[in-house]
Amino acid sequence: MVISFRTRRVCLVLCVLLSALTLVLQNLWIPEGSEEQLPGKPRASEALPQYGVRKLALRLETLSSQIQALKRDNIPDRLDSLAETLQLLQKDHESSMHSVQKDLAMVWEKLDTLLKRSLTGGDTPPRTPLTGMPDSEVCKIPNDPAFPLCAGKVEFLRAHWRSDPCYAHYGVDGGACSILAYLSDREDFCPSLPGRNISQGPDKTHPKEGKEEAVIRADLTPLLELIGTGRGPAVRFMQSRIERLAGRWARAGERIREKLHHKPQAQLKVLLHPGVLAGGAGERFGELAERGGPLGELVQWSDVATALFILGHKVTFSTTLPELHRVIGAPPGKGSCPIQVPLPFDLLYTDYHGLAQLQACMGLSFNQYRCRFRVLDSFGTEPAFNQGEYSRLHGYSTAWGSWELQPRQYMTMFPHSPDNSFMGFVSEELGQDLEEEIQEHKEPNVAVVYGKQDYMWQGKESYLEAISQVMKIHGTVYQETGSPPRIPGYVLNHGLLSQDQLLELLKRAKLFIGLGFPYEGPAPLEAIALGCVFLQPRFDPAHTPQNSAFYRGKPTTRQVRSQHPYAEDFIGKPYVWTVDMSNSTEVQEAVRTILHSQVRPFTPYEFTREGMLERVFAYISHQDFCSLTPQPWPPENTLLARLGSLGESCTTVCLQAALVCEPAHFQLLNKPDTFSSLGLNCSSTSVEVNHLLPAYNERAQRCSLQREGLLFSCAGSDNSHKRLCPCRRYQPGQVALCQGCL
Ligand SMILES: *[C@@H]1O[C@H](CO)[C@@H](O)[C@H](O)[C@H]1NC(C)=O
Ligand SMILES: *[C@@H]1O[C@H](CO)[C@@H](O)[C@H](O)[C@H]1NC(C)=O
Ligand SMILES: *[C@@H]1O[C@H](CO)[C@@H](O)[C@H](O)[C@H]1NC(C)=O
Repeated sequence: MVISFRTRRVCLVLCVLLSALTLVLQNLWIPEGSEEQLPGKPRASEALPQYGVRKLALRLETLSSQIQALKRDNIPDRLDSLAETLQLLQKDHESSMHSVQKDLAMVWEKLDTLLKRSLTGGDTPPRTPLTGMPDSEVCKIPNDPAFPLCAGKVEFLRAHWRSDPCYAHYGVDGGACSILAYLSDREDFCPSLPGRNISQGPDKTHPKEGKEEAVIRADLTPLLELIGTGRGPAVRFMQSRIERLAGRWARAGERIREKLHHKPQAQLKVLLHPGVLAGGAGERFGELAERGGPLGELVQWSDVATALFILGHKVTFSTTLPELHRVIGAPPGKGSCPIQVPLPFDLLYTDYHGLAQLQACMGLSFNQYRCRFRVLDSFGTEPAFNQGEYSRLHGYSTAWGSWELQPRQYMTMFPHSPDNSFMGFVSEELGQDLEEEIQEHKEPNVAVVYGKQDYMWQGKESYLEAISQVMKIHGTVYQETGSPPRIPGYVLNHGLLSQDQLLELLKRAKLFIGLGFPYEGPAPLEAIALGCVFLQPRFDPAHTPQNSAFYRGKPTTRQVRSQHPYAEDFIGKPYVWTVDMSNSTEVQEAVRTILHSQVRPFTPYEFTREGMLERVFAYISHQDFCSLTPQPWPPENTLLARLGSLGESCTTVCLQAALVCEPAHFQLLNKPDTFSSLGLNCSSTSVEVNHLLPAYNERAQRCSLQREGLLFSCAGSDNSHKRLCPCRRYQPGQVALCQGCL
């Protein structure tokens, strides 16, 4: 028991240090409260000095609870995670020292004022000594070595319980009993009071244990009811989409039930919180939707909600901050207290805005439950941007990244960033009968421009002019009353159309014309599904965060080579033509060929209802970021290791082999044996923190492995590393899944 004894001593020293630090930090803690986040604005908290302190305090909390756990249960298991937290703490410590110094100065100032006030008999409440309290007999501060922080915490709350109404909400009234009850029931800092029998500890059970089975549903009426009415234009848009497609979803549900052969899935409680709609930003976003603004996110939110509901899960929907507070059980106040555990949701789908909102209202519980978050993130987040410290040190810092979730917890619109999960949405699908009808209604001369706002048309005159010599161009451009849109006179403009009207027009049309913006929206897929050919500009040079205002500051290094890379790479001819917009000869040749070709309506399987249900089912069954030892998925035998060339990312290396990069397999690859199995000689082998690893340096015969799991990256590339890439095969039309990994 020598080890255990030593551990205990180390614990005690650590605990004393920690309580001191925690106290200082809690004094400095200024919660963000309900700070509003606007789309496109960086998270304000990042820039404030308090942010670092807050993060440091969160780590300390984690550390102290780990130490407590260490003494209660299995020591060797806990030591690893303790060491990890200590490492993180050290990193945070470095970056936070500056802000701590600043804040300490502030505290001195405050103390000074307080001292002066108490000397002059000011308005500070009289300090009742704990022993003088009526309840002191029952509620003595326990001297339990398992709860070394208890006394300090009680002192802190006695002085500060009024600083946040959440303490009062949990019954704290300034008396020792109420404080001890709070610190034992809610925060785990003190031992339970005698006679009390509440086990409120965080819910550590695996979310899928002991659940009912999810049963595939056909009726979407309850979903429409729980989304509710009267929530503004954005929610109305989603409701009308769900309503319009309800019948087809139900049929897809039936097909997927057969396909799954009664594979069981536990019924999960799922929260959907589109943060972008919450608060004032939501109204502006909704208003934009009515003027031809971006609808892609709303399309995706509707479809994710519908898919989860059809699959039989319990869906809750929140679009405002008060609703969010209510449904996750946040106490009223500024976020100093933990939420009422256990969190009533197994999974929380949100977006970047929603993450900040969740962090503000979950307080300490945010970190505890982060493994349950899923972030809808259309443009993707690469690992180098996701890891806070690394991104700061290596120039990958952006307003959006640094949340340090598992990269696969970010879910994209298109499968462009394999480090993330491809969530997608559903495109229009036609039955066989409708397909015939469409072929009859096609007017070969009709071309429709993809661009609802006239600024998208500027500078595209010669391109459109070239097309207009072959076909009649129609527009659906939003029109301000009194000011005609700035578009060429030969265009037949229908004004902004409802979704139904737009689909009718596309059914008649032969060609759908991309102007280069918006990037990667749902519309081209819908046009192709209705039998149109999509013509789009090639970007040379590629658009990147360096040269494109739109991608600037996004947490990605993607090279976007056309308006819709998915359409170009995964669909291609005869459905998609990518041209040099400035070359009228090339444009006209393409349009003439399209005019004389017969193209049938087409929808890639992964964008059908069935395909999306299958994918969401697979993610829910297999993606597990909460267990310490999750079941490997996709199965380990699907790994195909590849060595890249200099300058190639693993995304590229795998795609070139008609495979896809599978980040779940990096761990399997990150071993010295891999180099020899690929026939590489290592004159030295190192383990480093670098998002380009594992990799091989040919000249020096240097083999390098990855130390930091969060930094495994399909996307990373540079000219001195040959990357070791974990590729796998994928189902045709369903890149997220491999054969037999459903
Ligand atoms: C505590 O509550 C649980 C169930 O709520 C009960 O089974 C248990 O007997 C109680 N323990 C005591 C000491 O009252
Ligand atoms: C324009 O396109 C045509 C046909 O594809 C090609 O032959 C020609 O070289 C291109 N012109 C320029 C300037 O790229
Ligand atoms: C590795 O080393 C062995 C023996 O030293 C040599 O025969 C082989 O050619 C080397 N392979 C490469 C790829 O350099």
